[in-house]
Amino acid sequence: MTTKKRMWGGRFQEETDKLVQEFNASIEIDQVLALQDIQGSIAHATMLAKQNIISDEEAKTIINGLNTIQSDIEAGNFAWSVELEDVHMNIEAELTNRIGAVGGKLHTARSRNDQVATDFRLWCREENAIIASMLHELRQVLVELAEENLGAIMPGYTHLQVAQPVLFSHHLLAYFEMFSRDEERFIASGKRMNISPLGAGALAGTGFNIDREYTAKLLEFESPARNSLDAVSDRDFALEFLSNSAIAMMHFSRLSEELILWSSQEFGFVRLPDSHTTGSSIMPQKKNPDVSELVRGTTGRAYGNLIGLLTVMKGLPLTYNKDMQEDKEGSFDSAKTLRTAIQLHIDMLPKIVINKERMYHAAGRAYSNATDLADYLAKKGLPFREAHEVVGQLVAIGINKGCDLQDLSLDEMKGVSELIDDGVFEVLELTSVVNARTSYGGTARSQVEHQIELAKKIFI
Ligand code: ARG
Repeated sequence: MTTKKRMWGGRFQEETDKLVQEFNASIEIDQVLALQDIQGSIAHATMLAKQNIISDEEAKTIINGLNTIQSDIEAGNFAWSVELEDVHMNIEAELTNRIGAVGGKLHTARSRNDQVATDFRLWCREENAIIASMLHELRQVLVELAEENLGAIMPGYTHLQVAQPVLFSHHLLAYFEMFSRDEERFIASGKRMNISPLGAGALAGTGFNIDREYTAKLLEFESPARNSLDAVSDRDFALEFLSNSAIAMMHFSRLSEELILWSSQEFGFVRLPDSHTTGSSIMPQKKNPDVSELVRGTTGRAYGNLIGLLTVMKGLPLTYNKDMQEDKEGSFDSAKTLRTAIQLHIDMLPKIVINKERMYHAAGRAYSNATDLADYLAKKGLPFREAHEVVGQLVAIGINKGCDLQDLSLDEMKGVSELIDDGVFEVLELTSVVNARTSYGGTARSQVEHQIELAKKIFI
């Protein structure tokens, strides 16, 4: 960081206090927006020339200057200065430094308030698109995994108690649905936020004959924002981004929790790849699911970023307030956190080894076919509530004997209900239990196959 002259010093007689300068500066954070800032400035200068507010020659000089600055930033050869507070003033000051006084014309009919809102929207729009496409790729990974493992049966849980057996592929497709909604959310927010604040000025618009439609078009925004006050004070687009990120991270956190459980010795359903696990410095036998734990852990930060900005915004009078400078750090962090979580899963999930035997064994325990026995009796005309009671008694007998329902003899079963015949054993068999659930969206192989076919349409 170098020392530079502040850009708004005209009316000030005293130097800014050192700590205030540091406190006020956002350059450490918002230099991320450098390229968006230059992109916005080029559009603005182009428009100023088209409207004869500056000459073509001046616009050309400004744009060339901005391009040289961009090259230096991209090459890592740009010295950011805390005295110049933020990315906007750093770039503008350097522009004037390079091209002379004409650089000062760039800020005609513009304020940092519409400038920062424009830059940040450009960043957010790009991030929405990148994250949506990464989620798309992850969904493909999930479909492939579901297809490869079709037929593997695992316990389905409620209350983390074994409930009914389900296909492992069905379980994977549940995550496919979650990430589909996430992808949709990022796309929808990307469209909604694609409105240009540029030209709103500090808050009230400008007396210069600017063309906001034109700058909107140059920056590929759908249209200019209709209300200049809203344009500079709205951060809904960042809040939506943070909210979408928090929800997606919640999904990753649930998946992580399951992978952690499944890879434990007690479950033993999956083996995580060495590439995505770590060891212990003291216990030589250990293989820890750090990736999943950290994804679960960083979800807290993604929530915090959302709550942080919601709280910043809640009491702000219109229009711009410096509090809003706090909008970026959390957003940049959430983008990084979420992108990392997505990439880790794209890489890790295809390498997970599934222990089908353990899953199958666990699925058949804990009377997971009890509902099927009740359904069997109900289909024979017994009211479901009575069937529930009958099966409850049979489960109690099983618990006493230490065996499963299918291990009871026909006589033992008939002792509780005369309606039971030897067709019952077929019904109690695990694969039949799964394949019986043919209702739309159910776990029967036929249904899951159908859902895989539908899901595969995203590959096209
Ligand atoms: N660094 C500021 C921010 O991120 C830019 C806008 C400053 N506007 C102002 N009126 N001080 O919000």
